[in-house]
Amino acid sequence: MTGAGRGIGRAIAKRLVGAGARVMINDLDENLLLESEAELARPGRVRHVTGDLTDPMVPERVVHTTVEQFESIDIIVNNAGYSWDNVIQKTTDEQFQAMLEIHLVTPFRLLRAASTYIRETAKKEIANGQRVMRKVVNITSIAGTDGNPGQVGYSSGKAGIIGLTKTMAKEWGRYNVNVNAVGFGLIGTRLVQPLTDATARMEMHGHQIRLGVQPGLLDSVKTACPLGRLGTPEEAAGAVLFFCSPLSDYVTGEVLICGGGLHF
Ligand SMILES: NC(=O)c1ccc[n+]([C@@H]2O[C@H](COP(=O)([O-])OP(=O)(O)OC[C@H]3O[C@@H](n4cnc5c(N)ncnc54)[C@H](O)[C@@H]3O)[C@@H](O)[C@H]2O)c1
Repeated sequence: MTGAGRGIGRAIAKRLVGAGARVMINDLDENLLLESEAELARPGRVRHVTGDLTDPMVPERVVHTTVEQFESIDIIVNNAGYSWDNVIQKTTDEQFQAMLEIHLVTPFRLLRAASTYIRETAKKEIANGQRVMRKVVNITSIAGTDGNPGQVGYSSGKAGIIGLTKTMAKEWGRYNVNVNAVGFGLIGTRLVQPLTDATARMEMHGHQIRLGVQPGLLDSVKTACPLGRLGTPEEAAGAVLFFCSPLSDYVTGEVLICGGGLHF
């Protein structure tokens, strides 16, 4: 479970723990992960690996630590992400690549790192006549499914993860893995705070990145969205829980939009 130090990721971890799972959480900041662990308050059921997932060694470390500590991997949620936005003429190569790196390359590396465990375990289960369903949930966005002006890198990364989702559903169906994506509309986290001088910033590879959206967008969402409001992290986590649970055992390669009916 990546990006679980705050926001939607923390809410997903909470839902998973509440449903009985043991959860390995990852984020950039050790203190936030300790806070998440304390909030989840289930000693022994939550462990963490701190690290920047865009370091090629970190996805592998997350997988190895999970197998080592929990002796299995049954659910993978690729949630970590951030936005570094601009229109195309103002987007640098580094900025565009960074968006592909966190939203597409990182989930690819994490799934590749888990593939040996998943294939070998599933082959043994199948040989014993067992059908054990495993789950991958990748997080995308309506910026990926619909496009969104000012988010050329972000929307490309979020569209790319849909291709990865659909391909892995086909590659891993034989191993009884459901691979699906949840695409969010606007969910009330620091990523959608109104942009002002006091806006949240994130330090990434030497850049101070301002997180948030134009205040006008938030107003227009409220009129354009059939439910007339932003979603909460808990509501976002509910859609993810569906794909983590046996309720979705016969659903794979799909994208579920959780956005109150909003499309860009
Ligand atoms: N909030 C929304 O409206 C919205 C809409 C569509 C999609 N999403 C997606 O939902 C996911 C969660 O976003 P959120 O709104 O909870 O944001 P958030 O900023 O509250 O949480 C995201 C977490 O990911 C972590 N993260 C980012 N880069 C990382 C890295 N390289 N290594 C490890 N951790 C990293 C951050 O530190 C942060 O704690 C993201 O993939 C985001 O793109 C959010």
